[in-house]
Amino acid sequence: MFAKKILCIGAGYVGGPTMAMIAMRCPHYKITVVDINDEKIARWNSNELPIYEPGLDEIVREVRGRNLFFSTDIEGEIRANDIIFVSVNTPTKTYGAGAGMAADLQYWEKTARQIRRCAQSNKVIIEKSTLPVRTALAMERILGAENNIHFEVLSNPEFLAEGSAIEDLQNPDRVLIGSRDTPTGVAARNELVDIFANWVPRERIITSNIWSSELSKLVANAFLAQRISSINAIASLCEKTEADVAEVARAVGLDSRIGTKFLNASVGFGGSCFKKDIMNLVYLCRSYGLNEAADYWEGVIKINECQKERFVLTMLRAMFNTLADKRICLFGFAFKANTGDTRESPAIYIARKLLEEQAVVVITDPKALENARRDLAGMKGEILFIDDPYEAAAASDALAVMTEWDLYKDLDFERIFDSMTKPAFIFDGRNILDRKKLFDMGFNIYAVGKPPMTHFA
Ligand code: NAD
Ligand code: UGA
Repeated sequence: MFAKKILCIGAGYVGGPTMAMIAMRCPHYKITVVDINDEKIARWNSNELPIYEPGLDEIVREVRGRNLFFSTDIEGEIRANDIIFVSVNTPTKTYGAGAGMAADLQYWEKTARQIRRCAQSNKVIIEKSTLPVRTALAMERILGAENNIHFEVLSNPEFLAEGSAIEDLQNPDRVLIGSRDTPTGVAARNELVDIFANWVPRERIITSNIWSSELSKLVANAFLAQRISSINAIASLCEKTEADVAEVARAVGLDSRIGTKFLNASVGFGGSCFKKDIMNLVYLCRSYGLNEAADYWEGVIKINECQKERFVLTMLRAMFNTLADKRICLFGFAFKANTGDTRESPAIYIARKLLEEQAVVVITDPKALENARRDLAGMKGEILFIDDPYEAAAASDALAVMTEWDLYKDLDFERIFDSMTKPAFIFDGRNILDRKKLFDMGFNIYAVGKPPMTHFA
C-alpha cells in the first residue's frame, strides 16, 4: 500500500520530470501523470521519452511501473487521487483581448472544470503551471461553484531550467509553496511541505501567501531575463568601442552584490517561458494602470528582439551585403544546450531572416532536428537538415553558432575550414569558440560583444 497517491495533469517538460523526481525520492508514494495527448503518454510509456533531459531516462526506467504511471484516463485518475498538481501549458494568448501579451488560460480553466465535474471527495489542487497573480482566486471560484466538496488551492511554481531539470529538481535553491492562511490552507500547505521534505532540506522549503507565490514565479523569470538583456545591451556598446563583453561581465559579476551567473552575452534568450512570462507581467502591470512598470519590463523583450536582429545584420554586413545563394550552416537549433526544445529559439528567427535574404540554410543539432523541421515547415527557400556537423559545414560560406553544445567546442576546425567556401566566416552567437585559434586558421570571426577578427585589410 502506498502512503500517498499523487496525480499530475500535464505530462510536459515540467510534469514529466517533476513527477519522476518525486517518484524516485518517495518510493512510498504512488504518482500518476495524465495528459490529453495520447501520443505523448504512449511515448512516456516507451523507451523513447517525448523530451530529452540529461538523467531523465535513467530515472524513468527505475520508477516507471513501480510507483510512477502514465495514463490517459484523466477522469478516473481525478477520482482516484486527492492531491493533484496541474502542470498544463499556459502560452501567450494569440487572439482577442490581450493577444500577444496575456496568458492563455483556456487549458487551465478546462482542467479546473474537469476536476470539479469528476471529483467525489475533497482535493488539494496545486498550481504548478506559471500563472498570472490571482489565478488561484479564479480557480477557487470555478471549483467551488455549486459544489459541496472542499478544494484547497495551493501555488507551487516550478523553477527548473531545461537541460539541468534533473539536477534542479534534485537540489533546488528553494521550493516555494503559497497557501491561504486558513486552517485548511495551512493543513494542505503542510502536506505539500512533507512531500518535498523527503529530499529537500527544510530550510529550502519556503512558504508564503498564495499571491506572493504566484507573482514570485513571474518575477524570478523577469529578473533572470533582465540580466541577459542587460549584458546584451552592453554587448552592442562593446562592439562599437573595442571593449570585450566577457571581460566586462567578469569584472562586474565578481562584485558579490551582482554575482557572475546569467551574464553570458548571446544571440538572445529563447525558451518557452521568458518572453511569455514577461509579457504576462507587462500585461498585468498595464491592467492595473502601472504603465511605467510595464514599459520597464517590456524593455527586456525589446532588447532581446533587437539582439537577434543585430546578429543577422552583422552577418549581412560582414558578408558584403548579400547572402543570396550563400550556404550558411547553423550550429545548433535548440534554445539552449542539453535540450531538444526549440520553443522561441533565436535560431528560428535567424533561419527565417537568412531565408528571406535567399541564403541556403543548413541546420545541424544533436537533439533538436526533429523540432527544427517542424518549426521551419512551410518556409520558403532551401533548408537542409544534417546530423553530422562536418557534413553540414562542408561547402558553407559561414557557420553561425546558435546553441552552446559542448560538442561544437571540440570539433576539428582545420578540417572544417578546408571544406568551406572562402573567405570562411564564423558568427559565434554564444561566445563558445576560441576566436584567436580560429582566426589563425584563416577564419573571419565575429562574436557577440567582441571586436571582429578578420583577414581583410
Ligand atoms: P508542455 O507544453 O511541455 O506540457 C503541458 C502539457 O499539458 C501538454 O502535454 C498538454 O497536452 C497538456 N495539457 C493541456 N491541457 C490539458 C488538459 N486539459 N488535460 C490534460 N493535459 C493537458 O508545457 P511545460 O513546458 O511542461 O510547461 C507547463 C507549465 O509550467 C507552463 O505554465 C510553464 O510556464 C511552466 N514552466 C515551464 C518550465 C519549462 O522549463 N518548460 C519551467 C517552469 C515552469
Ligand atoms: C528558465 C529559468 O532559468 C527557470 O528557472 C524557469 O523555471 C524556466 O525558465 C521556466 O519558467 O520555464 P529555461 O528557459 O529552461 O529556464 O533555461 P535558461 O537556462 O534560463 O535559459 C533561457 C535562455 O537564456 C536560453 O536561450 C539561454 O541560452 C539564454 N541565456 C541564459 C543567455 O543567453 N545568457 C545567459 O547568461 C543565460
